[in-house]
Amino acid sequence: MPTFKLDGREIPFEKGETVIQAAHRAGIDIPHYCWHPGLSVAANCRMCLVEVMPPPGRPAMMLNVLQYDPDSGEYVDQQKPKLQPACQQAVAEGLEIKSESSPHVTKARAAVQEFLLLNHPVDCPICDQAGECRLQDYWLEHQHSSKRMRDEPVHKPKAEIFGPTIVYDAERCIVCTRCVRFCEEVAQDPVLSVRERGNVNEIVVSPGRELDHDYTLMTEHVCPVGALTSKDFRFKARVWFLRSVRSVCQECATGCNAYLDYDPRNNTAYRHRPRENPEVNKYWMCDQGMLDYRRVHENRVLDAKIGGETVKVGTALDRAAELLRGAEAGKLAVLLSGQHSQEDNFGLLELATKQLGVTQVFATGRPAGKGDKILRHTDKNSNTAGVLALLAPRKPLGLAALASAIQTGAVTHVLALGSEIEDPTLAPALAKLKALVVLGTWNGALAQSASVTLPASSWAEADGSFVNSKGMTQESEQALEPLGQSRPAWKLAAAIGVRLGAPVPFRSLDELRAALSGSGPKSKRAVQSGAAQ
Ligand code: SF4
Ligand code: SF4
Ligand code: FES
Repeated sequence: MPTFKLDGREIPFEKGETVIQAAHRAGIDIPHYCWHPGLSVAANCRMCLVEVMPPPGRPAMMLNVLQYDPDSGEYVDQQKPKLQPACQQAVAEGLEIKSESSPHVTKARAAVQEFLLLNHPVDCPICDQAGECRLQDYWLEHQHSSKRMRDEPVHKPKAEIFGPTIVYDAERCIVCTRCVRFCEEVAQDPVLSVRERGNVNEIVVSPGRELDHDYTLMTEHVCPVGALTSKDFRFKARVWFLRSVRSVCQECATGCNAYLDYDPRNNTAYRHRPRENPEVNKYWMCDQGMLDYRRVHENRVLDAKIGGETVKVGTALDRAAELLRGAEAGKLAVLLSGQHSQEDNFGLLELATKQLGVTQVFATGRPAGKGDKILRHTDKNSNTAGVLALLAPRKPLGLAALASAIQTGAVTHVLALGSEIEDPTLAPALAKLKALVVLGTWNGALAQSASVTLPASSWAEADGSFVNSKGMTQESEQALEPLGQSRPAWKLAAAIGVRLGAPVPFRSLDELRAALSGSGPKSKRAVQSGAAQ
């Protein structure tokens, strides 16, 4: 691989790369606002300026400047090298670049910072970007001087509603145009643009429009400062109190990689952010996925129930075992779920097929929905491919087949995973069952009709893996302690097995995963990455 020199260090690069791209890949941060690895180059913020050293024997490109001389009190003629934006400067073999090591670059970055903050309000105490704002970070790293301007700053619109999800503060905006480029290049809806020039410019929404495409929260996320904020997250939490785990979006079969941010002090999830994965979602997520974290706390099954009465989990497990024991041979069916992890599905399947001899296996999930050519898949389940792989070469039957098997009397007892199913045609069939044991996370048709409901933890409360539509197995980490009385569904299945005298051969997640890897899908593991942009 060819190399160039950055501050004396040899950096490999690929043909066509810019200085900032090659440095970014090598783990070296060149300060930047307007550059984003997933967007076109605008080179308008000038924060990434670097000094390009001339080839041997060639003079450097210099600029004539007037420099203030504090001794004489006069401005004197000086020369300085013409710095180049690293986000636009292409690299070539043998090129020598100075970034941290150039006093001219140090001075330029401080000046750019001071310029960007000239009219910036002192909003940090009430700004939701505080704690993860480039202006704050770079002030500390590259400026650390107090404000010299004594004039009244330019005032611009504040708290402007851009659409159902986003609020804009023009005074905080540095007009880097990341949001404009994101809407045009990624969301494919060029609804934002820049109005005016100089220190009165601002971002505006096209006349007659709102910022209301399917990637508005991502538009906010690419903003490097607090100019765009999400209505969902505004004033809810301070980021320095939040912790993050590597998670996987549960809203569709694309399986976008995410960070789930949560506050361990109140065991509450606060937001989903994209986690970089070039093979799955690059740098992006859709609105539905970024709001998916809310399901952790909404419409949950948090208590064990027998016939609608809340009981202890142990009591419900005893009753579940009793009911299942009464099933006639061959009339017990198991229902898997594309909304649950491989571990949950595998745990239940092992109990049903290997320990209880169940042959009637059905699978379900949420119905198909809207997709697009960017990220969103029409399959609104996170693990459909995983369930199919667990059952391969058999094809699982769906809810309609289960309903008709119940109607004909071929199935009298059902042990089901997942509960967020809203299918009105199912209720009459479920009413005919002698027993329905549900390991459920969300309320829905199944939980409402259950003889026994056992509260199953959501993906945020357990380590789990999910197979996306490309067949990639991706791991999601536990963030929260299980809510209410809930436990991971595979543990509930194992506890039923013990009560039936048919224990599954794994007692820990590691043991389950070892068994799963022997029988699970032959898929490649996704790259677990997640660099900041
Ligand atoms: S709103 Fe944010 S992303 Fe858009 S131009 Fe202003 S600073 Fe940049
Ligand atoms: S595209 Fe699918 S997986 Fe990705 S964020 Fe949206 S809903 Fe989640
Ligand atoms: S990051 Fe290069 S000019 Fe903005």
